[in-house]
Amino acid sequence: TESLASLVASRLRDIPDFPERGVVFKDFTPLLADHDALAAVVEDVVARFRGDVDVVVGIEARGFMIGAATAYALGVGFVPVRKAGKLPAATESANYALEYGHATIEIHSDAFTSGTRVLVMDDVLATGGTAAATCDLVERLGGVVAGVDVVVEIAALGGREALGARPLHALLQV
Ligand code: PRP
Ligand code: MG
Repeated sequence: TESLASLVASRLRDIPDFPERGVVFKDFTPLLADHDALAAVVEDVVARFRGDVDVVVGIEARGFMIGAATAYALGVGFVPVRKAGKLPAATESANYALEYGHATIEIHSDAFTSGTRVLVMDDVLATGGTAAATCDLVERLGGVVAGVDVVVEIAALGGREALGARPLHALLQV
């Protein structure tokens, strides 16, 4: 809703030239620090997905924060997608390009069984490279992406297109 988007907007900060010159970083730590704002965001996701997902996959690092809180509220488990080398057991990995630089992310190969309905969560969708690579990992394990939910979509960077047919929801578009 308009009021939720306004609340989210009021709890985000623009940090110019972070982590690199020319990038305006969307910092959602003020949203996390405000219980009412955090609860409103989580409850919005819960209202749209309750009963329709089996697990939340959160993308390192800020997707862990919003994703784990939402998984708890949905009454489902949480699975982390991490930067390369961080997960201890056998993994699937995917390389992708970022708005700034490139990266490899991984998921535990046994994180969930084939047919599991997955909600992917992160703070920001920019180019969509991170979220698309995460969806690829989910699908490689036989998971079904029920949705990709982000707090902020930077619409001009084309992340929505990078996700193809996977349903994307952003609380706020900038
Ligand atoms: C940021 C952000 C998203 C991703 C979005 O994470 O938190 O995960 O970039 O960019 P994209 O849509 O162009 O892929 P970052 O890679 O900076 O890592 P962090 O969350 O661990 O800080
Ligand atoms: Mg991130």
